[in-house]
Amino acid sequence: MNLEIRPETAKRPLEAVPLPPGGALYTIIPSKLEHAVPAPRRSRIPMVARVQSEDEIARMRTAGRLAASVLEMIGEHVVPGVTTDRLDEICHAYIVDEIGCIPAPLNYTNGVAPPFPKSICTSVNHVVCHGIPSARKVLKSGDILNIDVTVIKDGYHGDTSKMFLVGEPGVLAERLSRVTQECLYLGIGAVRAGARLGDIGHAIQTHAESQGFSVVREFCGHGIGRTFHDEPQVLHYGKPDSGMVLEEGMTFTIEPMINAGKRHVKILPDQWTVVTKDHKLSAQWEHTIMVTGTGAEVLTRRTEETLP
Ligand code: MF3
Ligand code: CO
Ligand code: CO
Repeated sequence: MNLEIRPETAKRPLEAVPLPPGGALYTIIPSKLEHAVPAPRRSRIPMVARVQSEDEIARMRTAGRLAASVLEMIGEHVVPGVTTDRLDEICHAYIVDEIGCIPAPLNYTNGVAPPFPKSICTSVNHVVCHGIPSARKVLKSGDILNIDVTVIKDGYHGDTSKMFLVGEPGVLAERLSRVTQECLYLGIGAVRAGARLGDIGHAIQTHAESQGFSVVREFCGHGIGRTFHDEPQVLHYGKPDSGMVLEEGMTFTIEPMINAGKRHVKILPDQWTVVTKDHKLSAQWEHTIMVTGTGAEVLTRRTEETLP
């Protein structure tokens, strides 16, 4: 039930992948999205993504580490003159042939847009998220690029993204990217069993706005596990001590999208690409985490990272 047949690569057999619960759009806050009419959610246990066994934890750790390895691998290829389509090709080949994973975005459908045609998302400058790699998009010095990778290994997802500064970055671009990464880390810092979702959003919003930036509201983090986009919705703004109470073993992403100008966004006619309405810069960083008794285990941590 609720299965969709996804043709993956030529090397893989057709594979049945479950659709997100409730008809999808878990990165999208349905009420805010003009074109989206989400289906009613089916009853389903558990209500949030949670790892319940050592085996599941191990698989989430593996998926997370492999997703992180894609971002580690691609860095040296992000140079002026390369196209985002070439970056997609390199990542696709690595994901499928080197680490034996399925690229979750490829043919992914949110129930509204046509299937996503590529294996990663590449979002340049004023593109907020879900940019589609293209042979016409040639990177130039000064661009900022988010690469968002989601892999499936042994049925479990790892979802992570980071900003790349191409060539010589401008002062604003560098500061926006850095502050957005700080927002991610502050959000992660608010995670522990007993804390609440609103604590995460509040930490992110407070920092972004203190720096004169704005928080995108239409897209949010999400529960993740066997399902790509699950409950809960992890908003990147909010009030402390509000929302769902976090429990050990919950697995979700935190993926703040922070704008240099106003927070408002629009979706291009391709139905995927999200851009800032004012065409000012936007940045995003994302990790998949697991709630522990004392904090968060960052499942998609890269070796270069020293998490606070
Ligand atoms: N990786 C994105 C996220 O963080 C989702 C991308 S879905 C795609 O949730 F279809 F656009 F690739
Ligand atoms: Co995500
Ligand atoms: Co992602």
